[in-house]
Amino acid sequence: MTLITDTEPAQSTRRANTESPLLDVLAERWSPRSYDKTAVISEAVLTTVLEAARWAPSASNMQPARFIVARRGSASFAKINDALLGFNKAWADTASVLIVNVAKLAIDETRDNPWARYDLGQAVAHLTIQAQSEGLHTHQMGGFDGEAIATAFNLTDDQAVVTVTALGVLGSADDLTPELREREVAPRSRLPLAELLLVND
Ligand SMILES: Cc1cc2nc3c(=O)[nH]c(=O)nc-3n(C[C@H](O)[C@H](O)[C@H](O)COP(=O)(O)O)c2cc1C
Repeated sequence: MTLITDTEPAQSTRRANTESPLLDVLAERWSPRSYDKTAVISEAVLTTVLEAARWAPSASNMQPARFIVARRGSASFAKINDALLGFNKAWADTASVLIVNVAKLAIDETRDNPWARYDLGQAVAHLTIQAQSEGLHTHQMGGFDGEAIATAFNLTDDQAVVTVTALGVLGSADDLTPELREREVAPRSRLPLAELLLVND
């Protein structure tokens, strides 16, 4: 069993080949599908990772991000894993924690928060970077049955299931199926920065 208790440098061999120098945690973050299925994340580290999400900025400081946090072996973990779709089912259960990222959509009974999903994404981004700095890895997923998750956790209409994040300790690509292994070791790529800049005056 691997117990992550203290801050450790990320052990990543897939550092981004960036056009400009980035912070190590940004350049070294990537989304693995192989996790150490015996690793247990300490409660202190898990709380720190969630704290990063709590302190993300949000429109008018409305803080619409909500999370369902499920440790491997719990009933909640099984419910989330059951709701994953396609090939996500083949790897995500090796993560130490599955987190359902939920956006609170309403400001009050008459007004929706148009930035709820944006702010949730921002909170998740902060979580992923804090996790990276703790020596952990994350993998966000859109492939799941949101209705099944909403039902399993009695969510209200105001609580939208947006993504699921796998959080864990990096495992070996060799533990994956051949198809997933190929993706795990494939070169990482991005569009050129110039293509992202609609205007760069
Ligand atoms: C909103 C969102 C949904 C995603 N859905 C899935 C998914 O269902 N399954 C999966 O294996 N990866 C999923 N990914 C991971 C992306 O494929 C991955 O982030 C992208 O290829 C870039 O790779 P990197 O994170 O390693 O840099 C998702 C990522 C995001 C942000």
